[in-house]
Amino acid sequence: MTPEFRIAFVLPDGERVECDGYARLNLLAHAEMIELELPQTCGGQAECGTCRVRVIAGEATPPTGDEHELRDRHRKRFRDRERLSCRARPKSDMVVEVLAVMPPDLRDVPEESG
Ligand code: FES
Repeated sequence: MTPEFRIAFVLPDGERVECDGYARLNLLAHAEMIELELPQTCGGQAECGTCRVRVIAGEATPPTGDEHELRDRHRKRFRDRERLSCRARPKSDMVVEVLAVMPPDLRDVPEESG
């Protein structure tokens, strides 16, 4: 598989680790390639939200239907430019920030209404 992009993960301590990027793989899979363990308590089912990362630069695929649905149900818990790493795939070189604190498992918190 020929690399298409470069993906850089910025860790909470500022360290930057990079890997080759592939359009067919989500960001979670890229992290796994370099043994960077991102939380993924639902196993990549777009249900828990613990795999969130923040896109600092570059372009990812748009949110999938299940990612939209999770965001809609927990609007206030998603910050700007946060994406589910189990759903977002790169469309360019990317710089992605790994969150310092693991987000709560959204299966365990009440949904927001309205
Ligand atoms: S691993 Fe649970 S939402 Fe991505």
